[in-house]
Amino acid sequence: MNPTGDLNARDNTEPWLNYASSYHAPVLCHDVIQGLVTRKDGVYVDGTLGGGGHTAALLDALSASGSVIAIDQDEDAIAEASKRLAPALSNERLRILKGNFGDMASLLDAAGITQVDGLLLDLGVSSHQLDEAERGFSHRMKGPLDMRMDSGQAFGASELVNEMEESDLMHVMFQYGEEPKARRIARDIVKARPILTTEKLAEVVRWAAPRGQEAKTLARVFQAIRIAVNRELDVLDQVLRDSIDLISLGGRLAIISYHSLEDRRAKHFLRTGNLEGEIKKDLYGNKLTPWVEINRKPITADQAEQIVNPRSRSARLRIAERQAFGDDL
Ligand SMILES: C[S@@+](CC[C@H](N)C(=O)[O-])C[C@H]1O[C@@H](n2cnc3c(N)ncnc32)[C@H](O)[C@@H]1O
Repeated sequence: MNPTGDLNARDNTEPWLNYASSYHAPVLCHDVIQGLVTRKDGVYVDGTLGGGGHTAALLDALSASGSVIAIDQDEDAIAEASKRLAPALSNERLRILKGNFGDMASLLDAAGITQVDGLLLDLGVSSHQLDEAERGFSHRMKGPLDMRMDSGQAFGASELVNEMEESDLMHVMFQYGEEPKARRIARDIVKARPILTTEKLAEVVRWAAPRGQEAKTLARVFQAIRIAVNRELDVLDQVLRDSIDLISLGGRLAIISYHSLEDRRAKHFLRTGNLEGEIKKDLYGNKLTPWVEINRKPITADQAEQIVNPRSRSARLRIAERQAFGDDL
């Protein structure tokens, strides 16, 4: 996206770099803005503020009367983005709300907003969260077992790993990491308790993993624990359900996901309006859904972006437009 805010003027050199910071590089920035913004004077929600890259791009793309409400549950992200976006905060084109996007309907209601023209969800964790050893998200760094995006939350990875029943632990790794060795790893974790650091957990997982599969197993297990600690799929389901009422007719929903569990939900929901992906039809055989898909296949990062920002390799962007359906008609 061109920082001047001209939606048609694509900066073909390295558009994603325009909004990158040392905190986080926003992925698919140009495609997000092009696909999400239908009214330059509209009200948009960035449900995952992070380092504020997408929010900055949105603010540049909108006219002076357009505005953004940005949400994050991580105080570090809010502090960092607030510095970067100070001018937009002071002229009230931007409001930042601390909270979970699973509570989006009540957060917006408390801010006096009932409907918006677009909603962006760039799921998962930021590069900064992963890179901070103290946050305990990464198996590559030594740190306390934590993984809470919201540091005010009582339950973290340490409680999960050390207090959960073996069968529940297995279930977490199987369901959220699609980990084939979940049973063996759960047994080894229980035997090795207490496990208080990322390093010790990584050691247990590496020992239980089939030879040559250590890196993939570690990634799956850490992902599974992170998803469970932050209830990532539950809150995603909640915001998707609420988005039908929150987004005005003609407004859009853009979702960037980074693994198949998220992308499957986004695909089903944007195709059918329900999380099961069940196609409903009226008496005449017309599909009943609140969404028109803007892209049937997910948009992915091109090679140039993938080289500069390896995190973009797994990104899948899906966008749909809210159309009249059910009670709207
Ligand atoms: C991938 S980063 C977003 C990066 C952002 N788009 C940018 O350009 O810098 C995801 C951010 O969303 C936040 N987040 C994830 N799940 C959340 C949730 N359920 N509620 C609120 N914030 C959430 C994380 O704390 C993190 O800061």
